[in-house]
Amino acid sequence: MHHCGTDSPPRKSTMPSPAETLALTPALIARLRACRRAVIFTGAGMSAESGVPTFRDAQTGFWARFKPEDVASPQAFAADPQLVWDWYVHRAEIVRGARPNPGHQAIAALQDRFEALAVITQNVDRLHQQAGSREVLELHGNLFDLKGFEDPDANTPPSMHCALCGGPCAGAGQTITDAAQREFEGLRLAEGAVPACPACGCLLRPAVVWFGEFLDPRVFSRARDLVAQCDLLVCVGASLAVQPAAGLPAAARHHGALVIEINLAPTSLSGQCDAFLQGAAAELLPQLVHLLDSA
Ligand code: OAD
Repeated sequence: MHHCGTDSPPRKSTMPSPAETLALTPALIARLRACRRAVIFTGAGMSAESGVPTFRDAQTGFWARFKPEDVASPQAFAADPQLVWDWYVHRAEIVRGARPNPGHQAIAALQDRFEALAVITQNVDRLHQQAGSREVLELHGNLFDLKGFEDPDANTPPSMHCALCGGPCAGAGQTITDAAQREFEGLRLAEGAVPACPACGCLLRPAVVWFGEFLDPRVFSRARDLVAQCDLLVCVGASLAVQPAAGLPAAARHHGALVIEINLAPTSLSGQCDAFLQGAAAELLPQLVHLLDSA
């Protein structure tokens, strides 16, 4: 016999809650809410929805013929400065037309929910800063500054560096005139011949880190300290293919932090972190903010 007339249970909303979307266990959500010091570690997938192509996805057009490794190195610049310059002009033009996506905005919003939050990024596009993130460590530099080119394979390493561009200086320290300073500051990645430093004459290059180059030791040491001190690290859109940056998320885990990964596809971190959230940064990060907002 059926019992008729019993009230059916209240209908669940068709919109899944952030906890359901993110498929995090209640224990993990409780741990997440207790975190105070967060690090958000980001790679090229972070800016994919802003229209900035990632490095390891298929490239289009003329530049599809070149692998990043073949154009992003001091050897490549020494061999063909104009080709490397033009590749970066192409990237800088894409970046100048790009805007932060809801993922960047979610990270900026997360700043108010933790005692401390820092972004450690491999991206050179400044979209985190545009979205309002206050502490952003640029592990691989940026596309907005230039510096003097120093050939690591040159037979005689220079003993002096130009006070204006930081590049090698053949002679004794040159005088930096106001005009040279202004000209240098006005230079940027733009179509045309590779510019030279108005003070010392050496070729200028984008202030990014190339394959085979060291990261700025001050930036990397600050990143390592933040990773050692944080209790939450969220790794977003990074293939973790390039050292030493790739070691930072695992180091946070080693120090006892909760480690969450957001990526379209699994990486070497996915099996070792506390939660791997598969999906797009611009969709999942706003869900994470929503989850932390809903008590
Ligand atoms: P990669 O191009 O290697 O990887 C992009 C990652 O983002 C991959 O794991 C994708 O699955 C993921 N991804 C793509 N779209 C996504 C989305 N919408 N949401 C979430 N994840 C997404 O970029 P990086 O890991 O940043 O170095 O590359 C590291 C370094 O290699 C770069 O900083 C650059 C490059 O050569 C230098 O220039 C020194």
